[in-house]
Amino acid sequence: MNVKNHNGKDVIRVVVVGFGKVGKACAEGVLASQDLALAAIVRRLDSMGRPLPDAFSKIPVVSHTAQVQQMDGALLCVPMTQVLETAHDCLQHGVPVIEASQLHGEAFQAHREAIHRVAARFNVPAIVGAGWDPGALSLLRSLFGLLAPEGETETRHRVAASLHHTAMARQVMGVKDALCTEQTAADGRRQRYVYVELEQASEVERVAAAIRADPLFLGEETLVFPVESVAALEQEGHGIVLERRGAPGRLGHQRLLFEARFDDAIMTAHIMLAAARALRGLSPGAHSLLDLPLTTLWGEQAHVAERAWL
Ligand SMILES: NC(=O)c1ccc[n+]([C@@H]2O[C@H](COP(=O)([O-])OP(=O)(O)OC[C@H]3O[C@@H](n4cnc5c(N)ncnc54)[C@H](OP(=O)(O)O)[C@@H]3O)[C@@H](O)[C@H]2O)c1
Repeated sequence: MNVKNHNGKDVIRVVVVGFGKVGKACAEGVLASQDLALAAIVRRLDSMGRPLPDAFSKIPVVSHTAQVQQMDGALLCVPMTQVLETAHDCLQHGVPVIEASQLHGEAFQAHREAIHRVAARFNVPAIVGAGWDPGALSLLRSLFGLLAPEGETETRHRVAASLHHTAMARQVMGVKDALCTEQTAADGRRQRYVYVELEQASEVERVAAAIRADPLFLGEETLVFPVESVAALEQEGHGIVLERRGAPGRLGHQRLLFEARFDDAIMTAHIMLAAARALRGLSPGAHSLLDLPLTTLWGEQAHVAERAWL
């Protein structure tokens, strides 16, 4: 039986597969929404025993999507290398999937084709590239391209600062200023990059050792880089700048600029949830965000969105 929300509409039941950064953000987003329900969290057997935040105490945790009775879609939040296999597994059981693998250009097209073949074979829809980039940023790039045709687009990526760790590094003797950022290495390990502006350049080894020895940094790979000016580095900012310059000529000089600071796991989760709202009525096969009418991403809020944005 379908579950209704307070508006009397059927809620969309989803499972979150993989409880990492994006999976956690998706699960939190579903709990906070009015029109989506979290049917289960699907985890690897090894992770089943790991505690989840209290908010999820009533949510079933299973090791396979086939153990979930009723669902409208699966949000695949597993590492990119596992996405195709996990998608196949869901699609062959008739479960629509949403994924956000960080692939671009030819690699994205090949990945989309591979998912499309499986989705078409089992007569089920799939939404691919539904994250931040690819995803929301692809839509923005596309819109910029329409607004300033024949121009050129430049995307500059910026690192996100970790304020707490930055504050600690600034307190180390001999450090004039510091900036600490967090990255995920290719093999999934967390790394801290600490940029330090020093009183004396010769102090770099001692300062690096003091930072690494602090309990805040223990157990994490910490790389310390001396720089001339942290202020200059900060100027480069955190996040992204997307710039589109129209071709000069009879159409005038168009210049479009988009600047954002954000957590890409949270942005990706927002888009995956929006994609879940677009699943109903979608034809079998793989669809990218560019294939979907924007209003479908708003689900039951489509009318409100149209009034607000048009
Ligand atoms: N489009 C975008 O902008 C964007 C941005 C960020 C991420 N992404 C995509 O989102 C997905 C998830 O990224 P994430 O940053 O959340 O990754 P993550 O933090 O590494 O989490 C991945 C989770 O997948 C599960 N998992 C299943 N098989 C695994 C395996 N063989 N090795 C390790 N973990 C495995 C684990 O959860 P359990 O322990 O619960 O099983 C793990 O916590 C990726 O496909 C990534 O490409 C897209």
